Amino acid sequence: MRKLSLALAAAFALGLAGAAQAQPYPTRPITLVVPFAAGGPTDTLARIIGERMRQSLGQTIVIENTTGAAGSIGVGRVVRAPADGYTVGIGHWSTHVVNGAIYPLTYDLLKDLDPVALLPANPQLIVTGPKVPAKDLKELIAWMKENQDKISGGTAGVGSASHIGGIYFQQKTGTKYPFVPYRGTGPAIQDLVAGQIDIMVDQSSNSLPHVQNGKLKAFAVTAAKRIPSAPEIPTVDEAGLPGFYISVWHGLWVPHGTPPDAIARLTGAAQEAMADPAVQKRLADLGQEIPPREAQTPEGLHKHHVAEIEKWWPIIKAAGIKAE
Ligand code: MLT
Repeated sequence: MRKLSLALAAAFALGLAGAAQAQPYPTRPITLVVPFAAGGPTDTLARIIGERMRQSLGQTIVIENTTGAAGSIGVGRVVRAPADGYTVGIGHWSTHVVNGAIYPLTYDLLKDLDPVALLPANPQLIVTGPKVPAKDLKELIAWMKENQDKISGGTAGVGSASHIGGIYFQQKTGTKYPFVPYRGTGPAIQDLVAGQIDIMVDQSSNSLPHVQNGKLKAFAVTAAKRIPSAPEIPTVDEAGLPGFYISVWHGLWVPHGTPPDAIARLTGAAQEAMADPAVQKRLADLGQEIPPREAQTPEGLHKHHVAEIEKWWPIIKAAGIKAE
């Protein structure tokens, strides 16, 4: 009798284990690592996409802001996480391209991460606080040259998109001002609105809401075409800085070796998010442009990532930008 009940207990335990194994991914909450401060552009995109992915995956997506060193600390956190599909990282042009050219990273941006999905891209805006007297970009540059010992610009750290945008702006305009590093452009934009700093070259998704409520002034968008939701802001070509284009594209990655079925579920959920009209409207309002569906795949992200490394590493290295 005792033997029989032991056998039954063992069979029951095995059955439970089998059932647990058979349960499809995901069975528990997923952590989405944002490598910049809460309230900034990467965080905002993660929350918009992540909230919609939750509906498709049937599991909570917990946003974790692991900040510092222009996003390279947060990306390292993803590289070192278990490759089980429960840690996903969001990043962008500077965290996954620029940082590889200027930081002595302890990981390989292509080999130590597996691509999940290419996400939207947004241009940057050249923005100042509302008290800056200039009415257009030419006046702004003249005002900055007259006041260069008094002004400063905000960035999300050496190598961040806002820092590269600021350096490029200085090179193109012959202006010079010190950069103040923050843990993300979320806190930096608050200081710009409050007048603690004077200028930022910042992602439209971060600064546009403040421009539209009159708290900031936008002088140009770093793209060949205007943002449909903000048609009053001229392009850099129109404003007098021809060819000053920066597009901050985003992606989702997981630690290398994550099971392909988990990656496929995550890719599908990201694609469903980007196909949702409510998500599309929120992103369009922020100047974010969704890539074509066929590019939203792991292959699409990998191809774009490699092409951007090939394009930007020689430019960044030649510019001599170094992690301080
Ligand atoms: C952020 O989320 O704070 C930004 O992506 C930082 C940047 O690279 O400018």
